[in-house]
Amino acid sequence: MLPSLFLATTAATIASAHTIITYPGWRGNNLHTNTEWPYGMQWSYPCGGLDLTTNRTYWPTTGGAIAFQPGWFQGHQTAFLYINIGVGTDGPDGGPLNMSNPMMPPFQILGPSNGPYPGTVCLPQVPLPTNWTMNPGDNATLQIVEIAAHGAALFSCVDITFAAPGDPRIAEVNDTNCYNSSDLGFASIYTITTTAIGSNANNVTVSAATSLRLLGSSIWALGYLPLLLGATWLLM
Ligand SMILES: *[C@@H]1O[C@H](CO)[C@@H](O)[C@H](O)[C@H]1NC(C)=O
Ligand SMILES: *[C@@H]1O[C@H](CO)[C@@H](O)[C@H](O)[C@H]1NC(C)=O
Ligand SMILES: *[C@@H]1O[C@H](CO)[C@@H](O)[C@H](O)[C@H]1NC(C)=O
Ligand SMILES: *[C@@H]1O[C@H](CO)[C@@H](O)[C@H](O)[C@H]1NC(C)=O
Ligand SMILES: *[C@@H]1O[C@H](CO)[C@@H](O)[C@H](O)[C@H]1NC(C)=O
Ligand SMILES: *[C@@H]1O[C@H](CO)[C@@H](O)[C@H](O)[C@H]1NC(C)=O
Ligand SMILES: *[C@@H]1O[C@H](CO)[C@@H](O)[C@H](O)[C@H]1NC(C)=O
Repeated sequence: MLPSLFLATTAATIASAHTIITYPGWRGNNLHTNTEWPYGMQWSYPCGGLDLTTNRTYWPTTGGAIAFQPGWFQGHQTAFLYINIGVGTDGPDGGPLNMSNPMMPPFQILGPSNGPYPGTVCLPQVPLPTNWTMNPGDNATLQIVEIAAHGAALFSCVDITFAAPGDPRIAEVNDTNCYNSSDLGFASIYTITTTAIGSNANNVTVSAATSLRLLGSSIWALGYLPLLLGATWLLM
């Protein structure tokens, strides 16, 4: 079903494809660009324009598999991926108020081209955030954020209910629904501190004072701006 969905939607929206979560499920189709979502639905925080759903899928209390197709968007030959979790019912849609809890360090994917491309990423064991304990029956939302080369972010979510590992309601993870496509690569993301905090942030000479005034408060950022590196960084 998913391959044919991919082909159909790619043909229809070649310039605005997006991320699909293939395991453990998806809030729903948010691939639209229309008058209600003129910039494309999936760019909307926190879950690509889709409100909380009630048709949850079950996911292990110990963490588990997440699989997704990252290549639905033009301009993702490289992309940064973040996997987050949100809990609670304080959000405007009755779901989590935020998704500010990373489950694993972000990483980069390397795609075969800068156009939309097929391919699946499988993370077989995404853990809960450090020191988190969830109980069977607890609800949560998993969020995948995909950062394009230009810094904008695509959002996709799935609403889950936790279940004990081995619970038969947790969908089996296998080579069919969770695999890494051979045409996708991965890279680590890390930063190097170029100017430590306090080392010389405000130490400007008289000749620089004019530009400091002109730049206003933005100059402070230069004091600690880390150099963001992907092992393979393509300027597009
Ligand atoms: C929940 O229902 C929506 C709408 O029918 C569907 O698109 C989505 O895939 C379902 N989600 C799950 C996790 O089954
Ligand atoms: C989890 O969400 C479902 C609806 O999706 C709701 O029926 C259930 O009461 C919630 N469970 C808890 C513990 O809040
Ligand atoms: C995020 O949501 C959690 C759960 O509702 C809440 O405890 C926390 O204060 C929120 N954090 C922010 C920064 O809003
Ligand atoms: C897919 O690749 C990622 C990144 O290298 C890795 O963490 C993950 O374990 C791989 N998945 C499978 C099913 O081997
Ligand atoms: C996890 O819990 C341990 C023990 O209470 C604590 O020392 C540690 O700082 C916690 N780690 C995080 C990331 O909260
Ligand atoms: C893989 O698991 C899914 C359930 O998540 C199941 O529908 C499918 O039949 C399984 N495929 C194989 C080859 O076992
Ligand atoms: C500030 O700049 C002056 C002139 O370049 C230099 O002598 C001084 O050591 C600097 N101070 C600090 C804290 O970097």
